Amino acid sequence: MTGKFITLEGIDGAGKSTHHAWLVAELQRRGKTVVQTREPGGTPLGEKLRELLLHEPMHLETEALLMFAARREHLAQVIEPALARGDWVVCDRFTDASYAYQGGGRGLAWEKLEALEHWVHPHLAPDLTLLFDVPLEVAQARMAAAAREADRFEREQAAFHARVRAAYHVRAAAEPARMRVIDGGRTLDQVKKQLEEIITSVCS
Ligand code: TMP
Repeated sequence: MTGKFITLEGIDGAGKSTHHAWLVAELQRRGKTVVQTREPGGTPLGEKLRELLLHEPMHLETEALLMFAARREHLAQVIEPALARGDWVVCDRFTDASYAYQGGGRGLAWEKLEALEHWVHPHLAPDLTLLFDVPLEVAQARMAAAAREADRFEREQAAFHARVRAAYHVRAAAEPARMRVIDGGRTLDQVKKQLEEIITSVCS
């Protein structure tokens, strides 16, 4: 039995984190050994880089490079060993987020992101990516209702988040077999039902 690499994506406030723990529990219920992790982060060094990335102003290329530096460490320390053991990995964000945020949001050329992707993980891509999608207004209302202080990305203008969402849509349209779009604006039960169907298809 080989494990699978599942990633969760979406604009801030799309609801992916709400479903992360449930998804992991559902896979475990089906007998899978699951590693639950996130980006940027997932390793001690990656979590330090996350702090900088979320709170320290920086040039957009520095931002992209640090995202991929954290990713390189994460792959070496966590993701690749887990997949080699046959475990399943459920990761909150991965390289699609770099294309969406640094590419779509900040305007960094996709060729530069492709170069980083080919350097850092030339032979690895997620088996399945769940793209949680909600209208911008819904995401913004959820972010406004969150009790904690907004980070550097969450504080960006609505137009930034609209570009991020559009970039995610471009990627989903280009790879429909890998990226499954989840309408995160529905009730939790409806979303779980769709997730269950998708999980059943990847577990069989
Ligand atoms: P999170 O709030 O979903 O944990 O993600 C933290 C932020 O990091 C989120 O606003 C998106 C951003 N991000 C990027 O800009 N590029 C990336 O490659 C990743 C993984 C995250």
